[in-house]
Amino acid sequence: MAESKTGGSRSVTGGNRIGAGREATGTNKVGANRIVTAADKPEDNREAPGAKMKMWGGRFGEKTAASVEAFTASIHFDARLYRHDIAGSRAHARMLAHQGLLSADECARILSGLNEIEGEIARGAFVFRPELEDIHMNIEKSLTERIGPAGEKLHTARSRNDQVALDLRLYLREECDRIMALLADLQAALVRQARRYRQTVMPGYTHLQRAQPVLVAHHLLAYYEMFGRDQARLADCGRRINVLPLGAVALAGTGLPIDREFVARQLNFPKVSANSMDSVSDRDFVVEFAAAAALIQVHLSRLAEELVLWTSEEFALVTLPDAFCTGSSIMPQKKNPDVPELIRGKSGRVIGNLMALLTMLKGLPMTYNRDLQEDKEPIFDTVDTVAASLALSAELMAGLRFNEQKLAATLNRGCMTATDLADYLVRKQVPFRQAHAIVGRAVAYALGQGRDIAELSLIELRRFAESIEEDVFQVLSVSGSVASRVSPGGTAGIRVDEAIAEAERQLADYAQKEHQ
Ligand code: ARG
Repeated sequence: MAESKTGGSRSVTGGNRIGAGREATGTNKVGANRIVTAADKPEDNREAPGAKMKMWGGRFGEKTAASVEAFTASIHFDARLYRHDIAGSRAHARMLAHQGLLSADECARILSGLNEIEGEIARGAFVFRPELEDIHMNIEKSLTERIGPAGEKLHTARSRNDQVALDLRLYLREECDRIMALLADLQAALVRQARRYRQTVMPGYTHLQRAQPVLVAHHLLAYYEMFGRDQARLADCGRRINVLPLGAVALAGTGLPIDREFVARQLNFPKVSANSMDSVSDRDFVVEFAAAAALIQVHLSRLAEELVLWTSEEFALVTLPDAFCTGSSIMPQKKNPDVPELIRGKSGRVIGNLMALLTMLKGLPMTYNRDLQEDKEPIFDTVDTVAASLALSAELMAGLRFNEQKLAATLNRGCMTATDLADYLVRKQVPFRQAHAIVGRAVAYALGQGRDIAELSLIELRRFAESIEEDVFQVLSVSGSVASRVSPGGTAGIRVDEAIAEAERQLADYAQKEHQ
């Protein structure tokens, strides 16, 4: 293929496509831009020494080998950072002008050239050149071709080492906010369902064995809590992302009179980094984001697993909308939960991305090393995968319907109120261990007859403990059991109603902050 659309040949996995994660939301569309390859321009191969065209070609006497160009280029994935790269360059140019390192006219030319380039990339009309390696040099070179010598001054007091660290921080800062908003959407879907099913009882499980009856709402709100912790982790990670690395330059700072605080204000960074060497070698914030994202995907996989189980005929506790299921090419009756299965399965790649990032950093000497370029594909894939999985989980949760008849039927089996009977005996002064043994015998008796303990008569029950009286049946009923669990955080209706109200308050607060 003489040319490839940016990342087009990699679209199978979605993860490597430039801008793939953003295409769904309509921003950052860079997929239509072309990447020109050597085969497009055969005359380049005859030109010697071809190194002249490299921005760093001064000290080289030989043209870069094609295999090296192909191996080192990152433009097919880092083009995704174009908006962040341009935002960083705008702030840097304004600072250089403010400091007298650029004239007002040069700065104005740079800014208008950058606007033009940004528009072209957004429209898909920009031609990326892999021999220029990455997004930074593609933009800088194109700027100079457009505006002349002023373009060559943009890189004053800047290195790609601090530039790429800045781009990545700007990118992840944005993605942190987007993923937090997606988490809130999923939480909102869970809370709406909790409200809908706030009186519906279901079996609560331990070891996947029926344990005690709980409200469906209580079960759903357990996930609300999980995703709340995920949000808090991202917010915390966001604080460490939000530090300006620009001004570290290659690794040691600069003697030119730059103003880092000026750049920080332009780009809304509350802090500038303290150590120039750390600034260009640090990717902890990428690892932290990947770790928080991996835990989100693990949480999603747990929710997904429950949907897979609950939709199976063996449980049949819920149904998913047809629009979110797929069929079988051979078995006409099948309605498969492929979406939750894929969400569950994709935890593999998100965990793998975290391992890739940790391993890339392990043993890396100070300061910038090219290894660090390997941070981008895993983190982009993580962002795309987690964002898509969160959005689909929210849709699945919104469309989920519980089979209330089936739920009611399951509750009469499994002696799930056995603990309630033991607690009843405790109130009658029976020590808990003895009460446990007594109820165990009653359960064995009931199960031996294929009955639930709630179905035993008072006479039968009194054979196990004489202190049992008529009021025991309230205790043995599923609704009585649920209503009795009023301890803070328990499943009683009054506690769950409070929890729903609190969750709704938190979500309203979040939505308000988001709109500020
Ligand atoms: N493409 C590079 C990266 O992603 C940009 C920084 C390159 N710096 C360098 N000195 N080669 O890390």
